[in-house]
Amino acid sequence: MRKFIFKFGWVIILLVFQNCKECPPDEPGGGEPTIGDLENIDYNPTPYDLPQLVDFPQMLIPDDNPITDQGVLLGRMLFFDPILSVDSSMSCASCHLAEQAFADGQRFSRGVEGGFTGRSSMAIMNVGFNRHGLFWDGRSATLEDQALLPVEDEIELHEDWPNVIEKFRRHPDYPTKFREAFGISSKSEITKELAAKAIAQFERTMIVGEGSKFYRAQILGEEQLSDEELNGHLMFFDASRGFLPDAQCFHCHAAPLFTDSDFRNNGLDSVANVADFPDLGRGGVTNFQWDNGKFAAPTLWNIELTAPYMHDGRFQTLEEVIEHYASGGHWSPNRDALMDSISLDAEQKADLVAFLKTLTDTSFINNPAFQDPFK
Ligand code: HEC
Ligand code: HEC
Repeated sequence: MRKFIFKFGWVIILLVFQNCKECPPDEPGGGEPTIGDLENIDYNPTPYDLPQLVDFPQMLIPDDNPITDQGVLLGRMLFFDPILSVDSSMSCASCHLAEQAFADGQRFSRGVEGGFTGRSSMAIMNVGFNRHGLFWDGRSATLEDQALLPVEDEIELHEDWPNVIEKFRRHPDYPTKFREAFGISSKSEITKELAAKAIAQFERTMIVGEGSKFYRAQILGEEQLSDEELNGHLMFFDASRGFLPDAQCFHCHAAPLFTDSDFRNNGLDSVANVADFPDLGRGGVTNFQWDNGKFAAPTLWNIELTAPYMHDGRFQTLEEVIEHYASGGHWSPNRDALMDSISLDAEQKADLVAFLKTLTDTSFINNPAFQDPFK
């Protein structure tokens, strides 16, 4: 009897799937869910081989979400699939574009119904190393938590998770993909939490640095920086012993991740009282007034590709960013003590920009593993 079920179970599964292939994903009846309907599909997850870059910290992976090839593939599909939005017109990738290191080149991003996000889209790079929380204000503790939010965000994808789950269950491929990634035994076990886990797995593989000149020259020692880049490097790391000005950057943008994982006020707005910041930033999360106007110091990897800059995209170019830091920024009661005017001549400013461009890693943006799997 067992043998019989085993043998014919396969035939039935095959028939069910054959059927599904012909049903458009949104049509009801595309693959009627039955209990245990996925059990005969192979569940044999392969541990993902995460690269370990020299000098980089070890990534902390949650015990309940190990990275597997199958999970990463599913996460990548979900990241690029407009099925996550209310009218199937937008995906995560609409605001996180590979060619812009997964930022989008806009000051504010246009969401699914034409509204604009309140802050500038963030590049998705090395997010697996994040320890202070995701977003400009760190309000999501983990990638798994973060991935749940855009779907139901009124501006962003403005869909409901229960609808999205229904679309997955009726879809010709997703039930199999969820089975292969997480070992679920029936379509009814597909949840938003599993979808978020898969997206988080994909994002953890998005490690940047290896293809940059900085990595080859300053970490591996295989190449030399140009004189301009080297001067920029010395100023960035306060390492010239007085021969060049100290630009203080590394305190908040520490190598090799180029962030210190903290929230700071780098002098973007001039306010007399900390209650008056136009965007409360970290203070809106902690409800601690002294945190108002503080934002995550973002990574500077691929910074050449992610304009415009800052949480509100106010600077169009790296030259404008350097002008801002040279001036010390605007005063407010909690402006960071490291923000002071720096006297930089035109050549020194250009050298800092030249150094920032050594952090460009085009192998990251062109990596076939991070491109749209539906193309
Ligand atoms: C409409 C545009 C839009 C869409 C769609 C969108 N995002 Fe974002 N994303 C943003 C913006 C804007 C921010 C910064 C918001 C903030 O800090 O308040 C952001 C921030 C993030 C961050 C934080 C990065 C960091 O370093 O802290 C991650 C991760 C992320 N998005 C992933 C996703 C995923 C996954 C999806 C799809 C489920 C998605 N985004 C859909 C615009 C978008
Ligand atoms: C006191 C800490 C601090 C110092 C010093 C500092 N930064 Fe920043 N940096 C930040 C913070 C915080 C942000 C994000 C601010 C925001 O958007 O509100 C930021 C943002 C940036 C951005 C824009 C990133 C993006 O993705 O939009 C660049 C570029 C940058 N810094 C470069 C530098 C350089 C170059 C130096 C040295 C001249 C420097 N920073 C010094 C804290 C600092």
